[in-house]
Amino acid sequence: MAEREPERDEAPDQTSGAPELNLDVSRVWQRYPSKGGHQVVLNDISLKVPEPQFLTVVGPSGCGKSTLLRLILGSESPWKGTVHAAGQEVVHPDRNRGIVFQRYSLFPHLTVLENVMFGLELDGSWLLQKWLTWPWYKQRHKQHQEQAMEYLKTVKLDQHASKYPHQLSGGMQQRVAIAQAMIMKPTILLMDEPFGALDPGTREDLQLTIIETFEEQKATIFFVTHDLEEAVFVGTRLLVLSSFYSLDDGEEAIGSKLVMDIPTPKTPTTSDKKRGDFRELIQEVRRQGFDPEYRQHVREFDLRH
Ligand SMILES: Nc1ncnc2c1ncn2[C@@H]1O[C@H](COP(=O)(O)OP(=O)(O)OP(=O)(O)O)[C@@H](O)[C@H]1O
Ligand SMILES: [Mg+2]
Repeated sequence: MAEREPERDEAPDQTSGAPELNLDVSRVWQRYPSKGGHQVVLNDISLKVPEPQFLTVVGPSGCGKSTLLRLILGSESPWKGTVHAAGQEVVHPDRNRGIVFQRYSLFPHLTVLENVMFGLELDGSWLLQKWLTWPWYKQRHKQHQEQAMEYLKTVKLDQHASKYPHQLSGGMQQRVAIAQAMIMKPTILLMDEPFGALDPGTREDLQLTIIETFEEQKATIFFVTHDLEEAVFVGTRLLVLSSFYSLDDGEEAIGSKLVMDIPTPKTPTTSDKKRGDFRELIQEVRRQGFDPEYRQHVREFDLRH
């Protein structure tokens, strides 16, 4: 028997969209056209983030991590369910949610400084206004430059402000991308395997940068990674998305569900990665999310949440 899928207008969640919630993903399903039918990718995902948290998301390749991130960004809509950010339903991307991809998010023809201030400059700078209010515009431009320099200092790149992206290493380019996203003061910063293309040393360095950024800016960070060690190290809350779960006898599992949602141990330094509780947690994540033989009954998960 296939699992029953709720209709779009069924059983509205009473707390859905409550303004005090930073992020509220409520009973979200996503599917895509496939081979003349549909492939269900996400199966009834609910997630509440009451205050700024650093959420990391792991799961087997193809389980729908990037899909979930796109739904929170608003670049696509769920098949069923809703996403609310700061009480507003997410229907398209807006400046409250910034994004950093694995690479290619910088403008090659702009300097580091111009890349970081780009979003601020774009805000309401239409040509006629620029021409009519030139002194005001110049003043504003100067303020943007100063702000961008502050953010470049945060990511330790103020010495490289006048360089172009191709003159920087991959790790430095990702630092610029983080500053570019953070300067818009998003309430939610989405990151899709942001350090995936970097060598281990640079990666570790950037993990510390993003932890510091989270502590300073107090935005919710939604961080997708393939690396379990990274997920446990940087985040404050770990989510595991997987299609390895079981339902009642005879019911077919379609799409991925959240199978783990836990706070992570505090890990202030990289040497904590060797700690026993840290290693045990990674083993547990591997078992619950990545082992096709281990199938937690979804009711067990629901009861704990
Ligand atoms: N626009 C789309 N059209 C059709 N299928 C899609 C689309 N986007 C994603 N999919 C499918 O949805 C599933 C989940 O994709 P998604 O990219 O979200 O996975 P992921 O967990 O991010 O994988 P990875 O770890 O490899 O990045 C895959 O089977 C993918 O082929
Ligand atoms: Mg992905």
